[in-house]
Amino acid sequence: MGKLKIGVIGAGSISDMHLQSYVKNERVELYAVCDMNEERAEEKAKQYGAATFYGDYPSLLANKEIDAVSICTWNNSHAEIAIAALNAGKHVLVEKPLCTTVEEAKKIQETVKQTGKVLQVGFVRRYASNTKILKEFIDTDELGEIYYAKASCLRRLGNPGGWFSDKERSGGGPLIDIGVHVIDICWYLMGKPKVKSITGNTYYKLGNRSNVKNLSFYKAADYDPEKNTVEDMANALIRFENGASLMVDVSFTLHAKKDEITVKLYGEKGGVEVEPELSIITEKHNTILNVTPQVDSLTFDFVQGFQNEIDHFVLTCLGETETLSPVEDGLEMMKILCGIYESSEKGIEISFD
Ligand SMILES: NC(=O)c1ccc[n+]([C@@H]2O[C@H](COP(=O)([O-])OP(=O)(O)OC[C@H]3O[C@@H](n4cnc5c(N)ncnc54)[C@H](O)[C@@H]3O)[C@@H](O)[C@H]2O)c1
Repeated sequence: MGKLKIGVIGAGSISDMHLQSYVKNERVELYAVCDMNEERAEEKAKQYGAATFYGDYPSLLANKEIDAVSICTWNNSHAEIAIAALNAGKHVLVEKPLCTTVEEAKKIQETVKQTGKVLQVGFVRRYASNTKILKEFIDTDELGEIYYAKASCLRRLGNPGGWFSDKERSGGGPLIDIGVHVIDICWYLMGKPKVKSITGNTYYKLGNRSNVKNLSFYKAADYDPEKNTVEDMANALIRFENGASLMVDVSFTLHAKKDEITVKLYGEKGGVEVEPELSIITEKHNTILNVTPQVDSLTFDFVQGFQNEIDHFVLTCLGETETLSPVEDGLEMMKILCGIYESSEKGIEISFD
């Protein structure tokens, strides 16, 4: 069988993780790069040795040579490009979030069903080695029933500007951008329970704080601090049908002493911490044990996580395995994220049937 020919759409910051991981996969030929900023597409195509580049995605999709695409564009274009790519007969790896609304997510799901093509949502943390380790512990019932999870992803200064802070193009702020990762990893490790109700709060108190000096932070490829229409902080309590609950808080900026990422799950027989450091908590012979697995990295290894994600996508496209992050999960996550925004806007709890 020939190599899987790949096109990467969107050649900004995160595309490097996709491009470098494809280059390292020997079953892949990195074939094309596309960006509405054609110079950027050309530059990345040269850098990573892709045969061709495009300044618009329909031209890339019209190329019959290409088997599969990564979508690394602004969130508001994910649905349109994913649907067009599936209809053009391509397999799709779409960056998180799947899209910006539940309606869009349903349309993407429908197109996946109609075309029978692979769609993998870029929930990269699911592919991390540490997640796989914990999944094995959880699947063999080491934690018992997981009834509570708690996740924080707090940046004291980290509004990336540009499209990230323009709600029209991003769909929201820290909740949809970084909250999606920590909510998803909890939900996935909890066994993907059905959501029952959501209470959320969003705050627009501090702006983007682009006035702050002497502290650097992550910026979009086209950084622009002028427009900022997204929340700077969000929190939520998510209740599941099986009685479990998940508490989450996230920020682009907050008067916090330092940045914080924590992902913790608690079960009847034990607990785990995914972040800030992999840890397993249990009880044996009437004594509490904090167990530290002896592994290469106790925190999320970004580069390895992306390599694992891309390798898994490639195997799925080749029909040798199934994706760990299918479109159904992308849709459920959109229900949760949009539910938090809706609850916050209306000031009430949102219930699901
Ligand atoms: N998995 C992760 O950890 C992670 C991290 C960062 C970003 N992301 C996701 O990746 C996506 C891109 O983020 P980024 O940080 O690379 O942003 P970016 O601003 O650095 O790059 C986005 C690029 O997409 C291009 N683009 C936008 N719309 C396009 C269209 N319709 N056609 C062609 N090109 C288009 C822009 O010109 C830009 O070059 C977002 O969905 C974001 O949520 C994921």
